[in-house]
Amino acid sequence: MEASLEAKLDRRVRDLLAQMTLDEKIGQMTQAERLAFNDQNPVTDIRDYGLGSLLSGGGSTPAGNTPEAWRKMVDEFQKQALSSRLGIPLVYGVDAVHGHNNVYGATVFPHNIGLGATRNPNLARLIGRATAEEVSATGAQWTFSPCLCVAQDERWGRTYESFGEEPEIASSLASIIDGYQGNPGRPGTVLATAKHFVGDGGTKFGTSTNPNYLLDQGDTQVSEEELRERHLPPFKAAIKRGVSTVMVSYSSWNGTKMHGQKYLLTDVLKKELGFKGFIISDWHAIEQIPGDYAYQVRTGINAGLDMIMVPFEYKKFIATLKAEVLAGNVPQSRIDDAVSRILREKFRFGLFEHPYSSDRYADEFGGKAHRAVARKAVQESLVLLKNEGGVLPLDAHRTRVLVAGTNADDLGNQTGGWTITWQGKSGKNTVGTTILEGIRQTVDTRSTVDYVKTPTAEQSAGYDVGIVVVGETPYAEGVGDRKDFPLKAEDQTAVDNVCGATKCVVIVVSGRPLIVTDRVNKMNALVAAWLPGTEGQGVADVLFGHRNFKGKLPITWPKAAAQLPSHKDDAGYDPLFPYGFGLKY
Ligand code: GLC
Repeated sequence: MEASLEAKLDRRVRDLLAQMTLDEKIGQMTQAERLAFNDQNPVTDIRDYGLGSLLSGGGSTPAGNTPEAWRKMVDEFQKQALSSRLGIPLVYGVDAVHGHNNVYGATVFPHNIGLGATRNPNLARLIGRATAEEVSATGAQWTFSPCLCVAQDERWGRTYESFGEEPEIASSLASIIDGYQGNPGRPGTVLATAKHFVGDGGTKFGTSTNPNYLLDQGDTQVSEEELRERHLPPFKAAIKRGVSTVMVSYSSWNGTKMHGQKYLLTDVLKKELGFKGFIISDWHAIEQIPGDYAYQVRTGINAGLDMIMVPFEYKKFIATLKAEVLAGNVPQSRIDDAVSRILREKFRFGLFEHPYSSDRYADEFGGKAHRAVARKAVQESLVLLKNEGGVLPLDAHRTRVLVAGTNADDLGNQTGGWTITWQGKSGKNTVGTTILEGIRQTVDTRSTVDYVKTPTAEQSAGYDVGIVVVGETPYAEGVGDRKDFPLKAEDQTAVDNVCGATKCVVIVVSGRPLIVTDRVNKMNALVAAWLPGTEGQGVADVLFGHRNFKGKLPITWPKAAAQLPSHKDDAGYDPLFPYGFGLKY
């Protein structure tokens, strides 16, 4: 950013900060979930406490869940903020992590693991821009994306939120931030978030501090050198691109919770790397710092957190932080640094000039242009792992096709977690095209396409080719942590019967590589499709040769979960398909 703009921003921040009371400053550092408001916590609290930010957690949507309903909701909250003494606008955050996935009818793009397979930074930028337009069509101004996690162990439930196991991919696809943020403050631009700082993808199996999880929120037990080499580079790339915010990881580094890690949050992120935006906590995350609440608050703020995603008991947080400041446990200078950073981003993104929503991009929301970008992303994300006897590309003329498998005709399974709800859900969850519908739309009128989810041997006979779409049902975060990930029983049956009766193409729709070692020899062709999102047509485009395969594995495809974690530089590296592998026609 050129010096003059920088100087102008600094002046505006200084002028406003000088007018603020301690209460108003602490209010700006407080983020509340929209569901926090009720009879005890009226929305007028936004005005009375001068809250700096609100959010919609995964699946937290207004009645109707339409862009209009969202704009109305956000504007009502904004009205409260603007009626405070200083009228500082609030910033509204959402997890738009593969499109504006909370909202019905939004374009849902492939999850990051699929984008990692494309190795296409310009495509990531286009996706960022399309997503930003759809987010701004709902009145929100901030997305908690991209996740720049470098997944080291596919047993992690957030593997699909990672661009891959090598930091170079996330560093390169951090270009999505340029799409989100564009020329900050111009229409259709939103604040982006580099998350989760740092090492969230490197936790050790079995170290999760959450009793229901295995790896997520666990301990990243690596040297500083390895942390800097494998997990830090994507954040450097994000800072170079002017990322507005950084969200801290639930995980620990060598036993210390990241939310209390002053060296990494302040000395490294803010000082050494020169990060000028603001640091936000994760959901309830400061309460994972060992100690009582007052200790957790002062430790997190003194470590360098600037805004706290409380997200419900905002009064308790505000009162506790104020008491810690008045007791001299949190320096006023730390408060001023935090508030200055928050105000700077609100000025930079024009929130003071344009605090209310606009329907400027209402037509683009879930529209043809964005879905075309998503379809291209699906095409480029597919990885061809096997193509024996050139069974692919398929002939679309006068052909008899059997489609099988649990993920052939299930939009919810192909969009995965973080879609409409936090955990995602099988079934028709939004507007889109399933893989089966895409196949049907591709073959000619003299062809037949039958769908049987789990066909018997008899039902599998009499076709030119069988396409078996297998995979996972949706999950998010540690709920998706797994000790092992074989094919589901019904998918095993479908593969056995279809591949036993005819030429077969197996497509894996999942958030991570699945263990197929025991059946891979039966398959004539094998394709990794990851979590493609709403534009399932993109799969048929490539199966029938309208596009070539382009994808390369962004993560090791193991022979067995017991091999994990498995990395390409390991001495005994012995995958089913190695990192970077991918065939073409
Ligand atoms: C979640 C996730 C984080 C998300 C936040 C808000 O727990 O860890 O990625 O942005 O809460 O939904």
